[in-house]
Amino acid sequence: MNNQRMNFSNDRCMDFPKIRMRRLRISDSMRRLVRQTNLSVNNLVYPLFVKNGQGLKEPIESMTGCYHFSPDMVANEAADIAELGIPAVLLFGVADRKDETGSEAWSEVGAVQKAVREIKKAVPGLIVITDVCLCAYTQSGHCGIVKGEKIDNDLTCSLLAKMALSHAQAGTDIIAPSDMMDGRIGVVRQKLEENGFPETAIMSYSAKYASAFYGPFRDVADSAPAFWDRKSYQMDIANSDQAMQEIRLDINEGADIIMIKPALSFLDIIYRAKERFDCPIAAYNVSGEYMMLNAASKAGLIDRQASMLETLYSIKRAGADIIITYFAKEAAKLL
Ligand code: PBG
Repeated sequence: MNNQRMNFSNDRCMDFPKIRMRRLRISDSMRRLVRQTNLSVNNLVYPLFVKNGQGLKEPIESMTGCYHFSPDMVANEAADIAELGIPAVLLFGVADRKDETGSEAWSEVGAVQKAVREIKKAVPGLIVITDVCLCAYTQSGHCGIVKGEKIDNDLTCSLLAKMALSHAQAGTDIIAPSDMMDGRIGVVRQKLEENGFPETAIMSYSAKYASAFYGPFRDVADSAPAFWDRKSYQMDIANSDQAMQEIRLDINEGADIIMIKPALSFLDIIYRAKERFDCPIAAYNVSGEYMMLNAASKAGLIDRQASMLETLYSIKRAGADIIITYFAKEAAKLL
């Protein structure tokens, strides 16, 4: 009540012309002086796609400016990224061969495992985050193991833990499970503890929605489901409370950083999570969001650089501490 009265009297002082809001917008330096949200290169993570082979740096048609790298070539790219001041990369693997359980996902000679070793050797200071999910490795293209008419949750968790351990053994700093099975963070955390990796961090894709904005990515990672959709495990786009429940569970199970994905259609979720939880919050500015902007700027409809910055500021302003974005390199050059 008291507070309300205070606000009311403040509001009364703020009448025109004593207050002219435009005074603090008068010049670039004035705007910088009172700027509330600061975007920094320190907040950015750049995603990279790796596949086995030698000397590969193949442009990806469906995602402007992105490439498929072989493990030997990704180290050079990682060095450039570190040079720009970007603190971390997020690796995704493309499988050589798929099977029912996605067994290549935990192979010691998988593209991701090899790429982690190469990056850690060449650029030890760069943080390597690895996506942990089976969808690029299973014949079904699902993030979990299909048993009859269902996805087997608990079996999937045990396989994800094997995958996570193989990444940790290769030298990954942060494991990022993106499958949305129940209980997987706890199972992964226990596996890491039992095998001598107590310091490996977990960034959980906690509130990952069944979004239409992953389209370009599924092309790149060759990970579209062969049948059904992902709605039995990824979140219903209409839900908000459930996201808080998902995040709470993941923190309890041992996640160090939680993630909301996608970012733009879920800025309210980022905001709510920031209000409620103390751990760092990441947001994933996904492939469809990236390409939507690229397509519009290519068509001459919007300014690419300005709309990129507006996008990144909106995610930061909503409450994200970390932004995973295909714009990271371009943004780093501007910041
Ligand atoms: C794998 C995964 C996906 C993305 C990140 N990890 C695709 C999906 O869930 O279908 C999407 C990233 C992007 O669109 O940029 N589960």
